[in-house]
Amino acid sequence: MSTIDIEDRLGITFCQRQPIAIERGEGSYVWDESGKKYLDFTSGWGVTCLGHSHPIITQAINQQAQKIIQNPNSGFTYSPARASLLSILKSVLPANLSKVYFANSGAEANDAAIKLARKITGKSKIVSTLGSFHGLTFNTLSVSGGTDNTEKYLPKLTENSFIPFDDIKAAAVAIDDVTAAVILEPIQGEGGVRIPGNGYLKQVANLCRQHKALLIIDEIQTGFCRTGKFFALEHSEMQVEPDILTMGKGIAGGFPFAAFAVNGWVDGQIHRGDHGGTYCGNPLGWAVAVAVLVFSTIFILLPRKQK
Ligand SMILES: Cc1ncc(COP(=O)(O)O)c(C=O)c1O
Repeated sequence: MSTIDIEDRLGITFCQRQPIAIERGEGSYVWDESGKKYLDFTSGWGVTCLGHSHPIITQAINQQAQKIIQNPNSGFTYSPARASLLSILKSVLPANLSKVYFANSGAEANDAAIKLARKITGKSKIVSTLGSFHGLTFNTLSVSGGTDNTEKYLPKLTENSFIPFDDIKAAAVAIDDVTAAVILEPIQGEGGVRIPGNGYLKQVANLCRQHKALLIIDEIQTGFCRTGKFFALEHSEMQVEPDILTMGKGIAGGFPFAAFAVNGWVDGQIHRGDHGGTYCGNPLGWAVAVAVLVFSTIFILLPRKQK
């Protein structure tokens, strides 16, 4: 039986599949089982920022795998691989963000951000935008305005309010004293690569401060040089100080890994046991993310700055 027959009989997928069985990839290309070469315009849902099977990534996986791939209980012990990543992340993250947690996927990072915002503020309303995508867990589905989240999974977990993206008047009406958080992509990805007007993010940030709501910026798709800077928030028209910034996709160039960074105040409100998990960061993810970050800084961003 062919790969396609077996998968069609036994597997579950979440989108319309192409009848192509991909066996390997290199750079921007992938090859199917018969050796036919394709130019990969998907980049694995915007993840393979350094291309497929980049030697920097495969080398990091090999080297770390020979040392250790699961610390004696993540969080219970310290790790040089994690310390390296934390130091490098600190140098590229917005300056107000001081602590980082690790996760396995973008949805998991956003889910945690929403959960913690509810705990920290003691409020439950989350404001998000139409056309947005933040993931497919219960919490993130509830705040994703670009997916069918209305009927299928009732009752919803998160009380939410959807507003049009880049509409500050709508934001001013929706963000109120019972709002726990606003979650926003700085540039809407799945919504059609929509860049907000100058000052929109700043005004939303001001509304959050005014109503004691947290600002969660979802850089899962825009982060790690996808917009020419490490984070979209570095572009002058988008510079705001988020309370929580979520990262995924390009952070480890295709290895399943994600993270969220918080400011000092938020960190002070998170207590032992509030969040965690068996794989909340693992040495392979840390090592690959270090490799991706170092490579991106040296070979992509620095030459650009020198031009
Ligand atoms: C902006 C944004 N947030 C969150 C997610 C969810 O990330 P993941 O698929 O890793 O759960 C995505 C995925 O496309 C995304 O584009």
